[in-house]
Amino acid sequence: MKINTISTKPIAGQKPGTSGLRKKTPVFMGHHYLENFVQAIFDVVGTVDGQGAGKTFVLGGDGRYFNAQAAQVILRMAAANGARRVIVGQGAILSTPAASHLIRLIKTDGGIIMSASHNPGGPTEDFGVKFNMANGGPAPEAVTEAMYKRTTEIAEYKIVEAQDVDLGRIGRHDLGGMIVDVVDPVSDYAAQMETLFDFPAIRAMFQGGFRMRMDSMCAVTGPYAIEIIENRLGAAKGTCVNAVPLPDFGGMHPDPNPTWAKALMDEMFGPDAPDFGAASDGDGDRNMVVGAGAYVSPSDSLAVLAANAHLAPGYAGGLLGVARSMPTSAAVDRVAAALGIASYETPTGWKFFGNLLDAGKVTLCGEESFGTGSDHVREKDGLWAVLLWLNILAVRKQSVSAILAEHWVKFGRNYYSRHDFEAIEASKADAMIAALRARLGGLPGTEVEGMQMTYADDFAYTDPLDGSVSKAQGVRVMFAGGSRFVMRLSGTGTEGATLRLYVERYVAGPEGLDHDPQEALAPIIRVAHELAGIEGFTGRKGPDVVT
Ligand code: G1P
Ligand code: ZN
Repeated sequence: MKINTISTKPIAGQKPGTSGLRKKTPVFMGHHYLENFVQAIFDVVGTVDGQGAGKTFVLGGDGRYFNAQAAQVILRMAAANGARRVIVGQGAILSTPAASHLIRLIKTDGGIIMSASHNPGGPTEDFGVKFNMANGGPAPEAVTEAMYKRTTEIAEYKIVEAQDVDLGRIGRHDLGGMIVDVVDPVSDYAAQMETLFDFPAIRAMFQGGFRMRMDSMCAVTGPYAIEIIENRLGAAKGTCVNAVPLPDFGGMHPDPNPTWAKALMDEMFGPDAPDFGAASDGDGDRNMVVGAGAYVSPSDSLAVLAANAHLAPGYAGGLLGVARSMPTSAAVDRVAAALGIASYETPTGWKFFGNLLDAGKVTLCGEESFGTGSDHVREKDGLWAVLLWLNILAVRKQSVSAILAEHWVKFGRNYYSRHDFEAIEASKADAMIAALRARLGGLPGTEVEGMQMTYADDFAYTDPLDGSVSKAQGVRVMFAGGSRFVMRLSGTGTEGATLRLYVERYVAGPEGLDHDPQEALAPIIRVAHELAGIEGFTGRKGPDVVT
């Protein structure tokens, strides 16, 4: 087979953010763009090992527009670069957690995932590519930085001349001497879930009339949800909705939060609400869970899962420790303290959990951005979280709202909310953060709105295992009694800057546990606006999305 070496020029602005490289689809489809980035990945991670043997990779994506075409390009480039074998999900489909699982199960040298996660998909929406390492987790910063550097100096890429591989047909294919194994994207993942959770108990709960609505938002978890929840766990047909992955996600914004999963929220707060509702995002790593009339914030979900994980067979031996991203509420820390296990606070982004998971320091991790997961893979895992909740509900035989209420009485409640200000002019957002940073030293010890500021910094993290340091991960201002706000700029947006304001307030209980979070947090929100001068710098009075 003919290997072509194509001359190319570096394309500016390919810096990967919090999780891989995301751009507007037309940018990715532009001349040599995808090819440049993929060649940069291969140049950095290597396609041939020290003995000269070709490496093995996993490949799949969330099914969004350009997914199937991009897969063919990546396969042709893997073959041209000397890879030995690529395992691809049928139809070029793999959820992010399922890809992570396959990398670990087959012990490949890593994998390429095509997704822009929860960002909308389509000809004018977003596309993305990320590389996961041999441990199944996202490439660490040193590796993504090296890839970025490579894209700035790249002069050529390699690609074989060949017909498309039939990715619809499960089985072994040949592409210029490289093996392409097309596999069922669901079966290995579903088998792993069966080892972690008490499927008979959950099945019995469904048989007893338990009702659920699982909204896959026309994204990748549809086939996984149907197989696991309807086929294997026996939930009523129709439990899984929006279960066919579509190139444009049916026009949905596949981000499982109360704003974008509004139909689910309406159903769960309606007169005939099912017992349990859940949604997942574009590539299946995020989740939102809701009870009848009871929204569970991701930070609370993490805490409840940590407190109850031992009820599932996969975690019956207890947890090694827990980790949360810095902006995530401290609710899980209180559970960890009660369990006598360690809790870690890391920068935003799942990649920071990798070392802790690999070293056996933590079993569960989570982020306020609807991400929860465990050491079963090296990504957050939406369906895993849904199944752990189902397992807990099946054992405790209580409603979601009763479980939440009991949790707050026992541990106190961390009222929590995130406010997002989207598509701000980048220079304005930068100026605002810079001005706030400059004031941090003077804040501790002073009082605003009757609240004492106790501590302020720009979060820096030293990885306890490899010693790597990540600076400027978010400005945080803490108040006496466990309240705080955090501000940082998103690393995943594709349009201008997104300012994220995270606010938290702790109430020990037993009184004051049932307020509306926005009301309970109002003073801290006001203070954050005042101190940072959000309106003055950005012209924005209020957020675009509140979660
Ligand atoms: C966002 C979330 C972060 C998550 C990431 C990838 O990143 O805030 O927690 O890990 O998406 O799903 P951000 O846009 O804030 O950089
Ligand atoms: Zn995602």
